[in-house]
Amino acid sequence: MGTEDRQRLAPLFDGLVAHVERGRYPFHIPGHKGGRGADPAFRAWIGERAFWLDLINIAPLDDLHAPRGIIRDAERLAAEAFGAEHAFFSVQGTSTAIMAMVLAAVGPGEKIIVPRNVHKSVLSAIILAGAVPIFIYPEMDQAFGIAHGISPDAVERALEAHPDARAVFVVHPTYYGVALDLPAIVATCHRRGVPVLVDEAHGAHFSFHPKLPPSAMESGADAAATSVHKLGGSLTQSSLLLHQGRRIAPERLRVTLSLLMTTSTSYLLLASLDTARRQLAVAGEARLQAAIERAETVRRAVRTIPGLRTLEADDLPPGTLGLDPLKLTVHVAGLGLSGADVEEWMRAEGGIEVELSDLYNVLFLFSLADGDDAVRRLKDALRRLSEAHRQNGARKPKPILLPEMPALALSPRDAFYAETERVPLEEAADRIMAEFILVYPPGIPVVMPGEILTQDNIDYIRANLAEGLPVLGPEDATLRTVRVIKERTPLR
Ligand SMILES: Cc1ncc(COP(=O)(O)O)c(C=O)c1O
Repeated sequence: MGTEDRQRLAPLFDGLVAHVERGRYPFHIPGHKGGRGADPAFRAWIGERAFWLDLINIAPLDDLHAPRGIIRDAERLAAEAFGAEHAFFSVQGTSTAIMAMVLAAVGPGEKIIVPRNVHKSVLSAIILAGAVPIFIYPEMDQAFGIAHGISPDAVERALEAHPDARAVFVVHPTYYGVALDLPAIVATCHRRGVPVLVDEAHGAHFSFHPKLPPSAMESGADAAATSVHKLGGSLTQSSLLLHQGRRIAPERLRVTLSLLMTTSTSYLLLASLDTARRQLAVAGEARLQAAIERAETVRRAVRTIPGLRTLEADDLPPGTLGLDPLKLTVHVAGLGLSGADVEEWMRAEGGIEVELSDLYNVLFLFSLADGDDAVRRLKDALRRLSEAHRQNGARKPKPILLPEMPALALSPRDAFYAETERVPLEEAADRIMAEFILVYPPGIPVVMPGEILTQDNIDYIRANLAEGLPVLGPEDATLRTVRVIKERTPLR
């Protein structure tokens, strides 16, 4: 059977349906038993059939931890579709796939080069592994107030300074859709025999349309954690860990993924991965083409709306490859509003929920789901927003505030396990942090365990709180206090 015919199959989904149709009575978990024991209102709302597929790893349905049957077949098809040698399914999102990649590549005391603006799962894995992060500080975009990706030059410099680094970790594309020059980064790393791990949370669609930037696997990366649930059309929490080459052993990835993964695997999530892969392989290019055109229509319209600006490929720093056309970043500071103000306005007045807002921007995400109605609604809402606020913007544009990247004083793991105390946030400047503080989304820590909190970080946290943006992480959710390492004298 050729690739095209093979990709029309969905062995896992079909296997589950065949199992249901056999009609055996379940004396096993889940205790709702095909929905019979579920809350009737919930069952009526989501539909009985969803419960029929909510199965467990009984023998005929294979086991994610050691797949030999329908899960193995589905993973093989996913590997083929995404251009990998191996694909491993994750039912705990990309966070767990990222952690598995990091644990497979570095051990205690070993160095891993990472951009500082990574998702917290990377830093969590570094704590678990006891690895030493070597941070590359991304260039900040002064006009948009966000961090972009890292360049091949920055990776080269980091490798020269740390020839003993065991892996390089990159984010491609970034949350805002910025694609790195990943082929060049991979070439730099591979010249030195160093594997490249990619957080491809926002790039599940890259393999399925020629106009999109190259995927991690196409770029030659060794492993990638890919959120099919974000842009590939599967259910939330279903992701892939992709692998190729010999720098990282695939068996090791299976082991580290299994180490972190629940034994109660959701077959609904697995079936959604299998079928999302089929849809991407069979119809992805046409559906993505339509989505790209729709996003472009809105992008062109926003350029004509007073007070708004869109992030374009021309705005990106050298060493990046371009922009995902499905991510539309609209800079709203020209209206004298914060991104959070606009998120709220969109909710209350525009009938729209956005993907993300930060201090200065709002991010709108297009996907293979959107139709013409979505385009009309967004264009109309953005025009009304501008009309309602542009006088205000002319008087008072928001000043751009960027977070300072704090310095690392202790390994994240040592800080995590050190003796700690709680101090008021205002008194925490110059102290070594024992916990994360992050704004979610995008989930990139302002400060992490082991880093020295600066006054600038405190001001940035306060600015985000004042705008009503979700600042998360500390034990004390009010952020009146934070947990720091116990020490007698401040560092400076
Ligand atoms: C850049 C990035 N990496 C990783 C993740 C984690 O993915 P998941 O939510 O699937 O665990 C996210 C989630 O928002 C993300 O934005």
